[in-house]
This record gives sequence, structure tokens and C-alpha cells, in this order.
Amino acid sequence: MATSAVVVLLLAMAMPQGEAARAFFVFGDSLVDSGNNNYLTTTARADAPPYGIDYPTHRPTGRFSNGLNLPDIISEQIGSEPTIPYLNPELTGENLLVGANFASAGIGILNDTGVQFLTIIRIFQQFEYFQEYQQRLAELIGEEQAQERVNNALVLITLGGNDFVNNYFLNPPLTTRRRQFSLPAFSAFLISEYKKILARLYELGARRVLVTGTGPLGCVPSQLATQGGNSGQCAPEPQQAGALFNPQLVDMIKELNQEVGADVFVTANAFQSNMDFIKDPQKFGFVTSKVACCGQGPYNGLGVCNVLSNLCPDRNVYAFWDAFHPTERATRLIVQQIMTGTTDYMYPMNLSTIMALDSNL
Ligand SMILES: *[C@@H]1O[C@H](CO)[C@@H](O)[C@H](O)[C@H]1NC(C)=O
Ligand SMILES: *[C@@H]1O[C@H](CO)[C@@H](O)[C@H](O)[C@H]1NC(C)=O
Repeated sequence: MATSAVVVLLLAMAMPQGEAARAFFVFGDSLVDSGNNNYLTTTARADAPPYGIDYPTHRPTGRFSNGLNLPDIISEQIGSEPTIPYLNPELTGENLLVGANFASAGIGILNDTGVQFLTIIRIFQQFEYFQEYQQRLAELIGEEQAQERVNNALVLITLGGNDFVNNYFLNPPLTTRRRQFSLPAFSAFLISEYKKILARLYELGARRVLVTGTGPLGCVPSQLATQGGNSGQCAPEPQQAGALFNPQLVDMIKELNQEVGADVFVTANAFQSNMDFIKDPQKFGFVTSKVACCGQGPYNGLGVCNVLSNLCPDRNVYAFWDAFHPTERATRLIVQQIMTGTTDYMYPMNLSTIMALDSNL
């Protein structure tokens, strides 16, 4: 009896109870949208087959993936239910405790990014919904408890890719932003705007925020098809964009953490973690990191992924699902680095360290 009681107690101590109960909030673009755009009049949507083909229900959900997306896999790692899109009517009652997903495909750091997608939820509107959410949570569990839940939550924000590929680099080549800025100056401008966005998130109560950098934009099938070299080299200018943006993001996060006096913001180097399997796909069990599983044209990188597209039979051996977004399996590799990566990937620390630090919350 006594022994089994001790075993039970030890098990209970080993279970990260604070973590299991921790809320998770998600902001950003299509890499993290779990279905908000299904409720909007926009062309940026993933609500038709074959999206979702490997999702547990095998149906499209609005996630830009064959299966789970980045926030789903992070939820899995922290022992939470997947975040529900803010516009989904199921986000009510007890479900509010899980957190919420405010992300909207097509948006960027800048308000003028993604105008071609019509009505999408720009970042400051996502924050207005976050305030609305907090009022609803307070009605459920009381003002003080709601505040505490928000302060103790894990937050993920993913922005920046669209400011390059769906704004600066859009065709025709002389976009307004390109006339206004050189590439290094544009990247610096994005970082200064991003800093304001993150400061606002802090004001709204976020105290543990994962901030992803942009991936290797020049290597996604869309850019290989439209701007890449003949033999499939990554497009140099979008590559340079990612190479500029990510180190500047780390510097900005250092400043911001100094200003708030704590390691609130943590950057995830998506450029590096994507480059690992893009450079050596075979090492990670992929047959290609250039050709998208779903699409058409060179590298399956043109147009949208829909029922008329080419579709690969085994999504586990492709790094890219569609012209812009990784497969679930590639996303799992990215999350592995988020969990346990060195400071080259996660600055100033990885998510397993965060979970250990915050386990008393
Ligand atoms: C973007 O829009 C928000 C609210 O609509 C506004 O507060 C913000 O200043 C705008 N940002 C820029 C750079 O114009
Ligand atoms: C990341 O996680 C591993 C444990 O999985 C740990 O050994 C390592 O020190 C961590 N790195 C940082 C920079 O926090």
C-alpha cells in the first residue's frame, strides 16, 4: 500500500500538471492558421481537399498542411488540446481555457501585406480579438484568474514571410515597397515594425512568447518555380531576405527582453531548421526538398493545391506539402529543434528549458 502510494505520488510529481493546464495563444499567418480564414471572404484558404488528407479526420480544416500544423505539434508537446480558431463557434465555455488561435493566412507585419487576399485578419485586429477573448475568459473564471492564465500562457507568433513573398517580391517587380526600400533597409523596417507588435503583445499580458523567424524563402517550391535558377538553385534575393531578417530579429529580441527585464521573447531560427533538411533531404528521409507534394508546374510550385493538382502518394517523403508550406513531417523536424535545439536554433533558450523553468506556474 505504502509503496504504491509513493509510486502514485511520484507519478503525479512527474506529470507536468502546470504545463498540461497551461493556455496557448497563436498569432500570425498561414504557417499557424488553423482555420480562421474559413470564416472569411478571402482567396487565402485551405478548406478544400486534398488539404487535411493526413489529418486525423482526413478532411480539410483550414490548416495549410497535409496533416497537423506547427501550433498543433507544439500543443501536442506541451500536453494541450489543439488551439481552436478564434472565429470557430466551438470556441466557447470550457474550451476557452485551452487558449485560442487568432492567426490568419496571408497577413504580414505590415498592414499593406496581403491586400490581394481581400478580408484577412491583420495583426492588430488579431490583438483586438485577443482583448475580446480575455473579456470572455474573465466572464468564465473571473478577472484575476483570467489575467493569471494569460500571463502564464505560452504564446506563438509567426510573421514576416508574406511581407517578402506576398509584398516586396510580388510581380510586377517594381512594387511600391521595392521602390521605397533596398532589401536590407526593408528588412530593418520590418524589424522595427515587428518590435512594436511584440511590445503590444506584452502590453496585452503575454509573458512567454515564441517568435519564429522567416524560413529560407528562396527555397520554397513557389520561388524555385518563379525566381529560381535553371537547375533548382534557391532564388538568391528571397534567400538573402531570410538571411538578413533572422539575425536582425535575434538582436531586436535581445533589446526587447532587456527593456522588459526578463526573457519574455524567444526566437526560433526557422531559417536554420528548414535549411537542414533542404540541404540534405535524404538524411532526413525525404526524396526531395524541391518539389511540392501538391501543385502543378515546375516543382509543383505554381498556382494553388486543389483536387486537380498533382498529388504525391506518400507525404512523409516530401519536405514541402504545397508551394509554400511544409508537410507535417517536416514541421515535426522544426518542432524538434524548437523543443531541444541549441542557441543556434533557439535564442535564448529552447522550449524544453522554458517548460522546466515555468513548471511551477
Ligand atoms: C497598422 O494598422 C493599425 C491599426 O489598424 C495601426 O494602429 C498601425 O499604426 C498601422 N501600422 C502602420 C505601420 O501604419
Ligand atoms: C535545449 O534542450 C536540451 C534538452 O533537451 C538541453 O540539454 C539544452 O541545454 C537546451 N539548450 C538551451 C540553449 O536551452
